[in-house]
Amino acid sequence: MALHRLTTITLGVPDVAATAAFYRDFGLVETEPATFATRDGGEQLRLAPAPRRRLLELGLGAHDADDLARISSALTRLGSEAVAGPTELRAVEPVTDTVVRVAVAPPIEAPVAATPATNRPGIVERHNARADGIERPEPVRPRKLGHVVLGSPDQAATQRFFTEGLGLKVSDEIAGIAAFLRCSTDHHNLLVQDAPVPYVHHTSWQVDDVDDVGRGAKAMLDADPSRHVWGLGRHYIGSNFFWYLRDPAGNFAEYYADMDVIDDDDTWAPTAIADLRALYAWGPPVPSSFLAPDDLAELTT
Ligand SMILES: [Fe+2]
Repeated sequence: MALHRLTTITLGVPDVAATAAFYRDFGLVETEPATFATRDGGEQLRLAPAPRRRLLELGLGAHDADDLARISSALTRLGSEAVAGPTELRAVEPVTDTVVRVAVAPPIEAPVAATPATNRPGIVERHNARADGIERPEPVRPRKLGHVVLGSPDQAATQRFFTEGLGLKVSDEIAGIAAFLRCSTDHHNLLVQDAPVPYVHHTSWQVDDVDDVGRGAKAMLDADPSRHVWGLGRHYIGSNFFWYLRDPAGNFAEYYADMDVIDDDDTWAPTAIADLRALYAWGPPVPSSFLAPDDLAELTT
């Protein structure tokens, strides 16, 4: 695959200051006003003023300039215009009007992590000590931006732009409703789902493990319980643990851990999921405001 990662997204929001405060609390580091970095992925979120919340720009990292040339030709074949320079290419996804910027970018170097000792029936790894996950003193700081979920009024056309034009691969689908696409070895980096209007359903940020999903959410909810949307649970599609919170603009922000990795395309068979597993494997009941955010009617008018 020519692409290998998400780089930086720009979210348009009506109140940049209030939304910035949320992402500071969420554990992102503000490197300059309204620009936020993760621990491993560098600057990955920018906030910009917009009359209503939307995804203004999506950044993807490519290996080299040849990749940009191939993507440019594929977009042209698809009828989309791409403006290509030596290290960067810019195109616009026509249905959602999202600017897509593909740049030659270094891969994310994740640290070598120690495996926390766990106790299970028949296997005792941790003797005479409390669990690592309850002893961590430091606040949760996301490792990287994992995925973005984009609602599109023409799901099939938006999916085609990203698969046939940009080269993302389909990992799984909810038949006729959504496609989980990857531009890396993570199960999904972009989910394109059917929606009455273009909007961001959620962004998702990787943390070390399920303890950090819980620790991160607890800190956010201690500060403001109204941020809660849905969690703790585990998805079937992608296998990740999740907890969703709402930012002041109405975008959901997910802490996730332990997502499926697809590093051998030949051994992964994409599946069309048509039952409740499309939403989750386990967790609290799905709130209706997760399926249709409270401001969706307002965004549609
Ligand atoms: Fe997600």
